[in-house]
Amino acid sequence: MTASTSHLIAPHGGKLVELVAQPERIRELKSLSCQWPSWDLTARQICDLELLMSGGFSPLTGFMNQNDYEGVCHNMRLQSGVLWPMPITLDVKEEFAKTLQPGSSKIALRDPEGVMLAVLHVEDVWQPDREAEAKAVFGTTSTVHPGVDYLLTKANPWYVGGRIEGTQSPSHYDFRALRLTPSELRAEFARLGWRRVVAFQTRNPMHRAHVELTFRAAKQVEANLLIHPSVGMTKPGDVDYFTRVRCYQLLLSKFPQGTVKLSLLPLAMRMGGPREAIWHALIRKNHGATHFIVGRDHAGPGKDKDGKPFYGPYEAQELFKKNESDIGVTMVPFNMMVYLEDQGYYVPDNEVTQGARVLNISGTELRQRLNEGRDIPAWFTYPEVVQELRRSFPPRHKQGLTIFFTGLSGSGKSTIANVLLTKFLEMGGRPVTILDGDLVRKHLSSELGFSKEHRDINIRRIGYVASEITKNGGIAICAPIAPYDSVRKQVRSMVDPVGGFILVHVATPVETCEQRDRKGLYAKARAGIIKEFTGISDPYEAPKDAEVVINTTDLSPEEAAQEILLHLEREGFIGVNDNHA
Ligand code: PPS
Repeated sequence: MTASTSHLIAPHGGKLVELVAQPERIRELKSLSCQWPSWDLTARQICDLELLMSGGFSPLTGFMNQNDYEGVCHNMRLQSGVLWPMPITLDVKEEFAKTLQPGSSKIALRDPEGVMLAVLHVEDVWQPDREAEAKAVFGTTSTVHPGVDYLLTKANPWYVGGRIEGTQSPSHYDFRALRLTPSELRAEFARLGWRRVVAFQTRNPMHRAHVELTFRAAKQVEANLLIHPSVGMTKPGDVDYFTRVRCYQLLLSKFPQGTVKLSLLPLAMRMGGPREAIWHALIRKNHGATHFIVGRDHAGPGKDKDGKPFYGPYEAQELFKKNESDIGVTMVPFNMMVYLEDQGYYVPDNEVTQGARVLNISGTELRQRLNEGRDIPAWFTYPEVVQELRRSFPPRHKQGLTIFFTGLSGSGKSTIANVLLTKFLEMGGRPVTILDGDLVRKHLSSELGFSKEHRDINIRRIGYVASEITKNGGIAICAPIAPYDSVRKQVRSMVDPVGGFILVHVATPVETCEQRDRKGLYAKARAGIIKEFTGISDPYEAPKDAEVVINTTDLSPEEAAQEILLHLEREGFIGVNDNHA
């Protein structure tokens, strides 16, 4: 028998609004859907839809119509007067928007595989002023702010609002036992006898400071603790949630038995600071939490282009305080926790006495220590967590990397690349693949020519393969001409998030390459037999961002390879362990 949950905190707006239709209605909607236009949902929209359907966004009944949207942007209120700080909108392309009839159209909302997740009954279709939205919601139109960047550069320019009928919740195959919906979590609280629940939102691995903070918060308000990390979309560059969840699981044993629960929230964060803190609390209220921890710089987007934070460190707490009665959840405000070296424990930074020796490690410093395989002290994080982080973020000399050569035909790229290959094979430890210009053209790009468009496609393919190799811990040595700067930068941005990227410019002058003319191609190019030949009848944009520049006029291939190896050693990509890996 399921325990009654009516004694728990009421959801926002009074009742839990779950939007999944009954089985019979779902069958009906599916058969009708062949007449309706389909919209393939973006990753962000799927996250929003999941929380709409589960009741995490109660009292919303669908994607916002224009009135709700305007009210939310400018007054943080829905048309009904209920507090709601964040627009939840369905952004679509203009061509699609123009096909819709407000009041009568229905849209089949589909996941990337084409499965219909919900039906949207179109009420409003409009072109929002997204700059005004950015200003109202995020307080800035700077695209350095990740929420604004998404809104202004990634989201579609038209919005469609209307009621939702859910047909199938987005599927997840990971951590299923940890993904509790509001009603499931409420049932769990009722079963456990938890009435007072303090929720902790996080998008980072938890270290000792967070354990201390959450434990103190729970004791302070005499509540049980819900660790409720966002695992939808967080800030670009964050630690992946698989790693984070494994870390959270390891930490559960640090809390007194039976006082803490971990559940995952499929939330797409906006990094909206103060407004986002309120939104987070409302979502937790829907999940049955009575209290919510708001720390320093809650859901902070980082710094602006001048290095100034977008929001003050405690601005979220201030806005929360002003709206606390409408939110209906009690804020548990916390300052940053710091470690007192002499006493050997953590305190909030506003409780530090003058002259006390305080220790802290920033996120950047932690990443550096992981990259370099340096010690991470136990006062900062638990050894089990360090071990888990090291599994996901091995030191640089165990990470994958891409060495990307660029230079004219005959400049020496392939020869140096092959020397480098043998050096890596000698060292052992990491698998190595060469993606040479000629070989790639034979196996991956045989249909392509040498126009700018085709060369760019060719380089993007190389970049894709290299990023996959790098992601899986291998070394990709790429040696195409890659004459264009912008596509080289694209490749860098594909590889950078998954491992090392080293651009090597083989800057042998065209005169030397032509003199050598190993393949007789320059003679053919001069004679006009080969068209669009780089350096002769086609451009080459010399890189300004190369990590290593080599002129082979006076260097042997062996010496050139040494230059690269020395650079890799300096940057930590080859290290003492390689011979024993
Ligand atoms: S690109 O621009 O990066 O896509 O070029 P890439 O894939 O490296 O291919 C270059 C090799 O193709 C041969 N080749 C030409 N190169 C440049 N321009 C023209 N028009 C051309 N036609 C054929 C040439 O052998 C290049 O090999 P490398 O090893 O660079 O000499």
